[in-house]
Amino acid sequence: MKSHKSIASVPSWVLESVAQRKQGNLFRQTMVMESGQAPIAKVGDKQYLMFCGNDYLGLANHPKLLKGLKQSAAEYGVGSGASHLVNGHNRLHQSLEEELAQWLGYERVMLFSTGYMANLGVISALTDKNDLIVQDKLNHASLLDGAKLSGAKLKRYLHKDSEAANRILQQNQAQHKMLATDGVFSMDGDIAPLDVLSSIANEHDALFMVDDAHGLGCFGENGVGSIGTYHLTQAQVPLLMGTFGKAFGTSGAFVATSNDMADFLTQFARPYIYTTAMSPAIAGATKASLSLIRGSEGEDLRAKLDSNIATFRTGAKQLGLTLTNSRTAIQPILVGESHKAIQFSEALKKQGVWCTAIRPPTVANGRARLRVTLSAQHTHQQIDVLLQALSIAIA
Ligand SMILES: Cc1ncc(COP(=O)(O)O)c(C=O)c1O
Repeated sequence: MKSHKSIASVPSWVLESVAQRKQGNLFRQTMVMESGQAPIAKVGDKQYLMFCGNDYLGLANHPKLLKGLKQSAAEYGVGSGASHLVNGHNRLHQSLEEELAQWLGYERVMLFSTGYMANLGVISALTDKNDLIVQDKLNHASLLDGAKLSGAKLKRYLHKDSEAANRILQQNQAQHKMLATDGVFSMDGDIAPLDVLSSIANEHDALFMVDDAHGLGCFGENGVGSIGTYHLTQAQVPLLMGTFGKAFGTSGAFVATSNDMADFLTQFARPYIYTTAMSPAIAGATKASLSLIRGSEGEDLRAKLDSNIATFRTGAKQLGLTLTNSRTAIQPILVGESHKAIQFSEALKKQGVWCTAIRPPTVANGRARLRVTLSAQHTHQQIDVLLQALSIAIA
């Protein structure tokens, strides 16, 4: 009888890597939410007060978005059926792009399926091995991965050290140069000095790119985010990336830029070209979200979010907690070592408050934290419950 080769088992190095993660308190796993995004959500059979999502305006379950989604799905279907450049780009995608461009004051907007793909797409299309990319040390993984994918020389400067960015651009010769930064830093919640960085990029003839995943919708006039804070326009920030998975309450992303640059990206940004266009239902829900964000309801939600941020910061400071210099919805509490962050998170969980511990490699060694995030939907009373739970957890 012919002997069958046994099915290959998982290589030992794979198992060892996982074991190492577990040993270092760095093992990650998903948890299953039994309800939608909301300040109070169900995990297992228990209700928790949630302070870790990115649904900053509480739009993920908003009736206007649900209506937009249902109507769009009824008219255009659930799936787009093809990539943007074949026949997947429909009237909803087009009008969402045009409305975003008008809102932000840019010539063109291109939709991407995720923010991760938008960052990979822009950076890898615009740079190659003869080029230099300069990035903040705390930039999001997708900006760093875009640089890796492009093969360009990547140099990182200390967090928000614009002088260092300037020096690097001055001292390094390259065919093309690019400077890229988060607008709001995803793990620290502070805002990049975009005005200074934009001037530096301009001085060195470098392309300037801003990822405002956590700023858009949350602050600035009409909710335009970080560019609004500094009154910057397309001329100063020629490449602006934004996501829909956070304040917009849906999913997907976009890049706002000039007509000429959009033409270029349409030819060369592979994560734009070789993937299915966003679901029309999501495009419709995102249009509803944009109209809400731009209007008076958006203003009211931003005011509520601001008030929640102030309430939390005042209370956390009274407890002697170490916060970052953030005035955004991201309010991390720095605890240092990973095991401490886990203990802290578990102590909160026992009191019915959910806030995930963030550990290396997402943040640097010794900088583990509880990434507290606030939403306009939280009440002051819920924030008081969080503060009370924190005071017990640190005791
Ligand atoms: C700063 C930043 N950029 C990009 C992304 C990726 O966006 P998306 O979730 O749409 O892939 C995220 C988070 O997810 C982020 O925090």
